[in-house]
Amino acid sequence: AKSGAARELAVAVDVALQCGENMRRCHGVTAASGIAWKGEAGSIDPVTATDEENERLVQRVLHAAFPSHEMIGEETATANGIPPLGDKPTWIVDPIDGTANFVHGCTLSCVSIGLCEGRRPVLGVVYDPYLDELFVAVRGHGAFCNGKRISVHAPAPDWDRSLILIEPGYERSTTGIAKTLALTGALLRKNVQAVRINGSAVLSILWVACGRANGYVAGLHVKDCAKPWDWCAGYVIAKEAGATFARIDERSYPGGPGGGSDSEFDIYSQSIVLAGSEQTCDELRELTREAIKAAL
Ligand code: IPD
Repeated sequence: AKSGAARELAVAVDVALQCGENMRRCHGVTAASGIAWKGEAGSIDPVTATDEENERLVQRVLHAAFPSHEMIGEETATANGIPPLGDKPTWIVDPIDGTANFVHGCTLSCVSIGLCEGRRPVLGVVYDPYLDELFVAVRGHGAFCNGKRISVHAPAPDWDRSLILIEPGYERSTTGIAKTLALTGALLRKNVQAVRINGSAVLSILWVACGRANGYVAGLHVKDCAKPWDWCAGYVIAKEAGATFARIDERSYPGGPGGGSDSEFDIYSQSIVLAGSEQTCDELRELTREAIKAAL
């Protein structure tokens, strides 16, 4: 991808590959090496020593290369709260997305590095160390996986030819479970060919971006919602690959880029509906909203 952000891209790619190497090195031994639990007692949301090591590495490299830039990293922001997005160039980083998979040695996780300029996402780099797939995009310059251009599966397929990704996250409230079951039921009643949960918001977005999945829905819940680092890099990549984004409702974290219509997705949104075509996105959003309403 050629662009004015060539140096940012090169630095982000280089550090993403190093983070991926750290993840591969711990494959299969993670469970023994330093897991903590985020939030309240009884939490099921893990963080490992490798998440923290990767976040420190990314912070160090980006700070050395771009001293005037800000960075919002998952582990720091989880401890201190999600800061508002400022006007300075801001990197938004998930040092391991799919940490629960990582802990279990399931090879479905990745490192995600996005950049916002003028409060808009402009660059995304995601590395999946297990498939050795490097996804990159710079706004206006297309999306690539290992150097090859990627694009969504654009024609709206029939439901019985569709693979739809969903995500219950770490939500375990009675209402949360009811909503997840209602959405799953609605999709199955449509005779959807495949309903999948892969456990990584970032990989879910990328699978839609490169045509492996037709749609993705997440953030049904009030308590457990995905965060800006789950969306930022993937958003740039999937947009450049031709995807359509929406959200289930207006919930979003304060301090986001905003500016769009009420129904428009931005990276501070707490829910996502993503699809390869506008038609699939609209239908999936409607189906999700109706399923949730019926569950309450
Ligand atoms: C999690 C994953 C998961 C999503 C959670 C995220 P993490 O990210 O993306 O799919 O449901 O909301 O927190 O914690 O593994 O980086």
